[in-house]
Amino acid sequence: MGSKILTFLAILTLITAAETCHPNDLKGLLSFKNGIYSDPSGRLGTWIGTSCCKWEGILCDNKTGRVTQINLPGFFTTEDGTPLQTCMNGWLSPSITLLSFLEVIDLSGLIGLKGKIPKLIGFHLPNLRKISLCSNKLEGPLPKSIGKLSKLEELYLCENSLSGVLPENLGNFEGLQDNLLSGDIPDNIGDLQGLKELDLSNNSLSGRIPSSITKLKVVSIIYLNNNQLTGEIPEAISLGQMPSLSFLRLNDNKLSGRIPYSFGYLSSLKRVSLANNELNGSIPSSLFKLKSLTELYLNGNRLSGQIPTSIRQLSQLLILTISNNMIEGPLPLQIASLVNLQTLDLSFNKLNLSFIPKWLLKLPSLSRLYLGGCKIEGVISEDIQATPSQLQELDLSANHLSGKIPEWIGRLNGLYSLNLSKNFLVDRIPSSITNLENLGVLDLHSNKLSGSLQSVFLINSRFSGGSMAFLDLSYNNFTSGIEQIGDGMQNEFQYMNLSHNFLKGKLPDSIGRLEAIKSLDLSYNAIDSDLPTSLANATSLESLKLQKNHFTGKIPEGFLKFRNLKELDLSDNFLEGKIPYGEPLINFSKDSYKGNKGLCGVPLDPCRP
Ligand SMILES: *[C@@H]1O[C@H](CO)[C@@H](O)[C@H](O)[C@H]1NC(C)=O
Ligand SMILES: *[C@@H]1O[C@H](CO)[C@@H](O)[C@H](O)[C@H]1NC(C)=O
Ligand SMILES: *[C@@H]1O[C@H](CO)[C@@H](O)[C@H](O)[C@H]1NC(C)=O
Ligand SMILES: *[C@@H]1O[C@H](CO)[C@@H](O)[C@H](O)[C@H]1NC(C)=O
Ligand SMILES: *[C@@H]1O[C@H](CO)[C@@H](O)[C@H](O)[C@H]1NC(C)=O
Ligand SMILES: *[C@@H]1O[C@H](CO)[C@@H](O)[C@H](O)[C@H]1NC(C)=O
Ligand SMILES: *[C@@H]1O[C@H](CO)[C@@H](O)[C@H](O)[C@H]1NC(C)=O
Ligand SMILES: *[C@@H]1O[C@H](CO)[C@@H](O)[C@H](O)[C@H]1NC(C)=O
Ligand SMILES: *[C@@H]1O[C@H](CO)[C@@H](O)[C@H](O)[C@H]1NC(C)=O
Repeated sequence: MGSKILTFLAILTLITAAETCHPNDLKGLLSFKNGIYSDPSGRLGTWIGTSCCKWEGILCDNKTGRVTQINLPGFFTTEDGTPLQTCMNGWLSPSITLLSFLEVIDLSGLIGLKGKIPKLIGFHLPNLRKISLCSNKLEGPLPKSIGKLSKLEELYLCENSLSGVLPENLGNFEGLQDNLLSGDIPDNIGDLQGLKELDLSNNSLSGRIPSSITKLKVVSIIYLNNNQLTGEIPEAISLGQMPSLSFLRLNDNKLSGRIPYSFGYLSSLKRVSLANNELNGSIPSSLFKLKSLTELYLNGNRLSGQIPTSIRQLSQLLILTISNNMIEGPLPLQIASLVNLQTLDLSFNKLNLSFIPKWLLKLPSLSRLYLGGCKIEGVISEDIQATPSQLQELDLSANHLSGKIPEWIGRLNGLYSLNLSKNFLVDRIPSSITNLENLGVLDLHSNKLSGSLQSVFLINSRFSGGSMAFLDLSYNNFTSGIEQIGDGMQNEFQYMNLSHNFLKGKLPDSIGRLEAIKSLDLSYNAIDSDLPTSLANATSLESLKLQKNHFTGKIPEGFLKFRNLKELDLSDNFLEGKIPYGEPLINFSKDSYKGNKGLCGVPLDPCRP
């Protein structure tokens, strides 16, 4: 009898525990809800009554009845399995720290969540395993108390506005000094002995990277990219520190000094980006002993000296970018051992290659080759047509290439992007170029190419998959072919620049077929027709530059349909009549219309009756 009553009481307690949650949890969650003023997903709409364990996005421990998880990410799958991207606007309530049993908080990708990370989070929520708050509008500092979260495994705070002290605290001496001494990433970050993944990318963090970070024993991901971090990369003092670190992004900061030699101790590194910093000195040879490296980005620094011959050890390497540094030649022959290398970017260094080494074009996996500004001379090397792997991207811009674009270029079937701009190439573009069925980007600007544009307009027109999107032929000697623009084209042109040529003739109605185009520049030519009314079909236009031609007649009324137009230049033509009245045409200055034969109306002088 007695045991029955006891069981009954036990069940009752369980039920009530499930029904009414702990007053602190309830208070914390309701404060959170009150801070949010818009929730299009309606998830917080279920947060009524006192059974908070049943609310959407909340998970409780079934023994203690306490809230352990808040899962309300901006990107989620609904109960019927449809993926949904939503947002929330409001403030992250500091009372969230009342949920003292919390293990997981995921409020990532809500876009509109403002406020600060509670200062004492590390003291009040000691059970936290995962903090995921990326892609919001959080600001202020990363509290020092985070270092107390000994169970923390994942810390994702990317894409917010986190920084040091807030502007209004600047008068607060204590806070200021704290910031000056330690930087915005707390010194005690190395205390997080359980931390596996750290993502603080895309914030406004400044100061140094604390050297204690090298004490993170089990960390495998560190992303600190796109901040304003300064100072040197901390030394990994001894062999065996951060033994699991595989993915490291420190790119797009203001880090200076040398790449520490001890970088070579981080033997698990797979993908490393140090790009776009102010790193100087030579590339330490130890870096090239990291046998597991698959991707290495060093571009956009001030690195000097030669590429170390130890590079041959990187047999797993797929991507290497060293562009925009001050690396000198010669290229070590050992690069030929990189049998898996797919992408190589050596552009804009102090390399004087004179020609592309034959062995480089024999790399078995190479498909993206960037050799801009490498002082390559002579005609385009025939070896390019015989690479073991199909070339997808080729950039030989800003060299001293001369002669014609070879007929065999049409055989580079895999080519998606070709940049031969800023050379001394002459003569016509070979008609074989129409065979490049995958070409999407063609940049031939600033050469001495001449003849007709017709073949270029027909690139991949015969293939269903083709989608030319980018074309720059500006600063050449082209004279004809403008009549074919849009005709028979099967493309998705977004950017077309034919400016500074000698193009004559009519702009045809078929130009209206360029429905996806955002930027069209035909300026500095001698085109002498009316402006085709069909051009108004190109409603995606954001920039239209037709100045310095011989266009005649009126501006078509249809130009009022250019809802996205931000840049317009029709100056120095022979246009006349009233400028169609309305947005966006009235919003441009007089300069957009000056130097014509007889335009009038807003923004120019009124038309005479
Ligand atoms: C309580 O949760 C644990 C693990 O979360 C689970 O294994 C167990 O079956 C649950 N017990 C009840 C009574 O739901
Ligand atoms: C971080 O910021 C950079 C530069 O603003 C941007 O290109 C990049 O897409 C951002 N990263 C993420 C993950 O959004
Ligand atoms: C590298 O940069 C550091 C700090 O910016 C500077 O002190 C040093 O002189 C530079 N070294 C070289 C070789 O340019
Ligand atoms: C590049 O090297 C070639 C051949 O070694 C030499 O003739 C040329 O002057 C060099 N150019 C520059 C700019 O150093
Ligand atoms: C082609 O190369 C030039 C010079 O190196 C560069 O400015 C341009 O942006 C490149 N074009 C494309 C489409 O990337
Ligand atoms: C390009 O055109 C200009 C101007 O007409 C002319 O002076 C020059 O000789 C031409 N160059 C070539 C290589 O055709
Ligand atoms: C077109 O090319 C010229 C010369 O290369 C350049 O000055 C101009 O800004 C380009 N136009 C657009 C819209 O990018
Ligand atoms: C422009 O659009 C109109 C209406 O959609 C269509 O009738 C006309 O054929 C189009 N013109 C061109 C040149 O595509
Ligand atoms: C154009 O100007 C008007 C009046 O000055 C202004 O109200 C409107 O927002 C502007 N439109 C655009 C697209 O800039």
